[in-house]
Amino acid sequence: MESITLTAATKAEKYQELLPQIEALFQVESLWLPNLANCVAVLKEAFQWYWVGFYLVQDEQLVLGPFQGPLACTRIPFSKGVCGAAYTTQQTQLVPDVNQFPGHIACSASSQSEVVVPVFYQGKVAMVLDVDSEHLAHYDAEDVVGLEQIMALVEKYVAPSYINR
Ligand code: SME
Repeated sequence: MESITLTAATKAEKYQELLPQIEALFQVESLWLPNLANCVAVLKEAFQWYWVGFYLVQDEQLVLGPFQGPLACTRIPFSKGVCGAAYTTQQTQLVPDVNQFPGHIACSASSQSEVVVPVFYQGKVAMVLDVDSEHLAHYDAEDVVGLEQIMALVEKYVAPSYINR
């Protein structure tokens, strides 16, 4: 596949249009790194968010993985920020105003709202997806559903090869 097709009018439809295309990418490549890289490229192209990237569990912390957007913090302790909260609670974090989130890590002052989705391998968080917007309350329940569906594909096709790298 050399490009993705995006014809959907609504956000929910866009997620449904992306899902089989992302699955097709994962089915033809077995390496975790190119798959995560293309996953964030597709999300950036589809939604034009400010920052989209993975933080990978390594050395008892979250370490920056493939991303699209400005320079970001490279290491995040499990106890810190929205990414740390997603790791610790094992639940998706939907944060409409990051300035109101205790312990938020401002890698960039431009980020105003974000979603962080944990990705599991054998019941443990293997990585998190972090999406950030310069607009307040940019994300809603449709993003949570859509991103969790995409992360279910990452769990199935990509997380095992990351953990067993
Ligand atoms: N805001 C995140 C840190 C990562 S970046 O914004 C790219 C957090 O609080 O976990």
